[in-house]
Amino acid sequence: MTDFTQFPKSGTIILAGATGELGFLIAGFVVRRGGSLKSLVRKGSDNARIPELRRLGAEIIEVDFNNVAELVKACSGGTCVVSALSGLRDVIVETQTRLLNAAVEAGVPRFIPSDYCIDYTKLPEGSNRNLDLRREFSTRLNNAPIAPTSILNGMFTDLLTGQAPVVLFKIKRVLYWGDADQPMDFTTTRDTAAYTAAAALDTTTPRFLRIAGEVATIRDIQTAATKATGEEFGTLRAGSLGFLGSMIKITRALSPKNDEVFPPWQGMQYLHNMLSGKPKLSPLENDRYPEIRWTLVREVLATKH
Ligand SMILES: NC(=O)c1ccc[n+]([C@@H]2O[C@H](COP(=O)([O-])OP(=O)(O)OC[C@H]3O[C@@H](n4cnc5c(N)ncnc54)[C@H](OP(=O)(O)O)[C@@H]3O)[C@@H](O)[C@H]2O)c1
Repeated sequence: MTDFTQFPKSGTIILAGATGELGFLIAGFVVRRGGSLKSLVRKGSDNARIPELRRLGAEIIEVDFNNVAELVKACSGGTCVVSALSGLRDVIVETQTRLLNAAVEAGVPRFIPSDYCIDYTKLPEGSNRNLDLRREFSTRLNNAPIAPTSILNGMFTDLLTGQAPVVLFKIKRVLYWGDADQPMDFTTTRDTAAYTAAAALDTTTPRFLRIAGEVATIRDIQTAATKATGEEFGTLRAGSLGFLGSMIKITRALSPKNDEVFPPWQGMQYLHNMLSGKPKLSPLENDRYPEIRWTLVREVLATKH
């Protein structure tokens, strides 16, 4: 494992969402790199990660995320605000806007929004509900007097052994629609966190940083699954992308679950986007922090066994 203490950086990171999956990992990497960390948590939260964050050396600041004055106070002295919040419009657009306004008022020079996704700048409005919210927030961010940096990482590779029904371990098939040779971007949650922490402590980042632990086609995933498990995997083409588009409409009509962050139809939208090739990340900035070692799809699939 990389000893990040060899690459020390200074800075005070104000992190929102540190009790979440990605945020907690970002917190760990910020501290390992020598940054100071202030974690904003919801008032009265008894999340089990809070004592862990304290042990890491983070300052825990309980805030009412609806109260800009409290957020301004919490942001003061920060060199970069990092959001790893997860949610729908109330969080991605509204809460992040309050956090942004507070960061500006507190004089924080930089802001990393909770994007961590495929390239939504290349996708048409309406093709992915969650990414439309990110695009909407990005308009506000672009107009604010602060330097924004979005981390775009494709799909969390971890989802291939979890929520994303792509690698069907039981029947040894890789499920897809459209073209099995379409390159797609995958980065683990951990590698995304390591990179985000490095970017948070780097004062010279551009508007977008695009990364991929591995660029893989459906056929590459098939090979990775075969190597990872020692068993022969095949592919399973369920139809065209047009057919997947119709399935998304039907699933959304039958099971809208509009108040869930990741209802099945939204996961299908994400897969449709990726398989279309439109949000493919380019250019990749993987080498910006050469100390980061990227985890391959095969390594993630091997954890399933
Ligand atoms: N590219 C991909 O494949 C992929 C996959 C998964 C996630 N992501 C993205 O990664 C980011 C982080 O996701 P995650 O999985 O780490 O999320 P998570 O585990 O659900 O954590 C969400 C964090 O946001 C906080 N939060 C939620 N609603 C809040 C509110 N109204 N006010 C204040 N704090 C609130 C939570 O605090 P509490 O602990 O108090 O609830 C928690 O700290 C999101 O942008 C998500 O979309 C990307």
